[in-house]
Amino acid sequence: MAKSFKTFLKHTAKDFHNQSVNPPVVRASTIIFKSMLDIRKTQDKAKKNPTGGHFDYGRQGTSTTHVLSQILKTMEECHHVFLTPTGFGAVFLAIFSVTRPGDEIIVADPAYNPTRILTQEFLKEFNIKTNFYNPHDLKTLEKNINKKTKLIFVENPGSNSFEFQDLNKIIIIAKKNKVYTAIDNTWGTPYFLKPIKLGFDMSIVSATKYYSGHSDVMGGSLAVNKRVFKVVDMANKITGLRLGPDDAYLITRGLRTLDVRLDKHEKNSKEVANFLSSYKNIKLLYPHKKDSFNFRMWKKYYSGASGLMGLKIKSKNKSSVIIFVYSLKLFGYGYSWGGFESLALYQDKREQGNRQFLNLDKDEHLVRLHIGLEDPKDLIEDLRKSLRFIK
Ligand SMILES: Cc1ncc(COP(=O)(O)O)c(C=O)c1O
Repeated sequence: MAKSFKTFLKHTAKDFHNQSVNPPVVRASTIIFKSMLDIRKTQDKAKKNPTGGHFDYGRQGTSTTHVLSQILKTMEECHHVFLTPTGFGAVFLAIFSVTRPGDEIIVADPAYNPTRILTQEFLKEFNIKTNFYNPHDLKTLEKNINKKTKLIFVENPGSNSFEFQDLNKIIIIAKKNKVYTAIDNTWGTPYFLKPIKLGFDMSIVSATKYYSGHSDVMGGSLAVNKRVFKVVDMANKITGLRLGPDDAYLITRGLRTLDVRLDKHEKNSKEVANFLSSYKNIKLLYPHKKDSFNFRMWKKYYSGASGLMGLKIKSKNKSSVIIFVYSLKLFGYGYSWGGFESLALYQDKREQGNRQFLNLDKDEHLVRLHIGLEDPKDLIEDLRKSLRFIK
């Protein structure tokens, strides 16, 4: 009987050797062999089957990281999943693998700000030029493609402004122009969206967020198709990017409940979104308003929504919006998201980044909420009390 994915997450990675329901944490730099012949046999196996977990040195991983990679491969329905020490490491690996001096890349304007800085400021030093496209005007994407263009880097939905894009159209444009595609899928995770199946070459998830789910570990994953496997594998080896076995173990543990947590994040977020939608001074940046383009694009591609949302708040008084955020009792103030707890953040100029296509009037402010796994009634009550401060 074919197991559902939810069942797979609970039953996978058992250690039958030690009769344990969880895999052991194998920490290793040196891997011990019986002889040089034995080493060569392992290396030959690795050559024939590069994704099979045949390691001759700890930098390539151990059985603990291999187990995690295999679980994510099943979830992503892809050729292979590379593991990195942070989500941003996976962003870097994707871009570094397919670009060389003289190339150009095109990045979604609302990409995560460090991704924008990496592409726009750092890659410039290596003679790699970045253009940004408007996520709701794909003509700006096609217009920017030329003979030097190597990669389209998508993030969906956009960071801070939460635009949902027509992903199929992007893939068609990329294929027509023979350009690689990568997407940052941290918001949806492959539980809600499977980008490699859709046609992307590479898909990034920050495992720091929902995969681990407990705000106590960092990691990243880069899922790839067959087309790019070799170049990414080479770049991965050269950069030495490696996820430690203890972090891999914690991420595997988090994945056991990924479906349960994401279903609950979605349920809580919908209740909070319904509550917030009655406020005239707030525009909700979350797929809930059925007649919007964003909602249609979300519905077309995703099977669910996670717990991260934006609020565009209209107020001539910036301090009052900040007081609203500071006075929340159940929402911690800080970066990151995807853990069990609710968080809030005022998105100031520095958090927004140097955006070209951010539609934000002078009297509009961005606040990001991560809706956690608390009782939504308590979250709503907390928001109700603090929203009174906005003038
Ligand atoms: C959309 C997105 N991508 C990538 C990252 C980077 O992940 P990490 O913090 O694990 O490096 C983040 C972190 O906030 C993120 O929000």
